[in-house]
Amino acid sequence: MAETAQKTSWTPPQGNSSQFGVDRPATQTAKAQDDGDGGFRPNAGASMLDMEAIGDRKNENSYEWQKKQGIDRSKQVQIVKVSHMRYQHNDLDTMTKFLKDFGMHIVKESEDKERIWWRGYGNDQYVYYAQKGPERKFLGGCFEVESHAELEKATKIPGAGKIEEMTEAPGGGHLLTIHDPAGFPINLIYGQEPAPRGDYPNKIIHNYEVEKPRVRKFNRFTPGPAAVHKLGHYGYCVTNFEEELDFYTKNFNLIPTDFLYVPDESGQNKDVAVFMHVDRGEDPTDHHTLFMAHNPTTHVHHASFEVHDFDTQNLGHQWLGAQGYTSVWGVGRHILGSQIFDYWWDTTGNMIEHYADGDLVNKDTPIGWMHAGDESLAVWGPEVPKWFLD
Ligand SMILES: [Fe+2]
Repeated sequence: MAETAQKTSWTPPQGNSSQFGVDRPATQTAKAQDDGDGGFRPNAGASMLDMEAIGDRKNENSYEWQKKQGIDRSKQVQIVKVSHMRYQHNDLDTMTKFLKDFGMHIVKESEDKERIWWRGYGNDQYVYYAQKGPERKFLGGCFEVESHAELEKATKIPGAGKIEEMTEAPGGGHLLTIHDPAGFPINLIYGQEPAPRGDYPNKIIHNYEVEKPRVRKFNRFTPGPAAVHKLGHYGYCVTNFEEELDFYTKNFNLIPTDFLYVPDESGQNKDVAVFMHVDRGEDPTDHHTLFMAHNPTTHVHHASFEVHDFDTQNLGHQWLGAQGYTSVWGVGRHILGSQIFDYWWDTTGNMIEHYADGDLVNKDTPIGWMHAGDESLAVWGPEVPKWFLD
């Protein structure tokens, strides 16, 4: 029999977010379809081609879109992938407890215990860097670039600092920090030694109605934290949406996968949010690595880490709940990106997500446009909390 999640006397601190512990107002989620006979069609799912999933909305080749924007691809700094997040916390002990419960493990800790590097089981040296400081601070996501020449190229971007050698971090390498027009740091790394990947979880066999390969094999699970594989994406809310979009799509090989729009006063559709992927040509990449949404205030929205599958995610949700942390929204299924999602507040008031089963895209995936509304967020899951959109 599976053991129940062990409860501890642990009480998370009420961090500096005003959204801790407040009842969540409900909003509307995705709609069912009429069957034309006074009822509703049964729910359905399909894994369909990107072109079909996007449907008959404005459907544009991403390289054509770049041309129209006057983007010179040869001037872009070539990113390979996103590798880790960087944060400052005033209470590292509390965050250490949280990140273990979130499914990461420490790969290195500085002697004075003021800097900690956290691993997943993928092939990144670390997926999360935390340093101790007087206040909560977002130190940006970090992207691996193709070569040292790309790092040097990036020093010409307005807001760029100096290339610095990482003498203490696992795997070393050189890091460059650039501040975007909204003031958010973005970090680029090159020369980090590759890390051996960890142990991968088992693939669970699923039985369908007439296809039941799992004969005399019983599914059994062990409760506990949902082990993190890798960093998937992160994003911001910004007051200067167009300027930010311009900055990221011109300076880096980041391409919009999907836009969300709203009609403006004149009835014209205005883009208010974007999900961007790293352009690796034919090679498949995650549906989004960086996202941005127009908002009355500029702030970080969340960072998201990949876990194995649906069961892992639910077991992880149960574990975080049993430790007394505050759930934001989840478990549910996104529409754009298709991920199964689960959002939590960490112990300093940053939003952090577990995701599984996200979409992959490449250069042939057309850009999609969708109306921005609650129905664009999830096809199933709990009601969307108001502050998810704040
Ligand atoms: Fe996310």
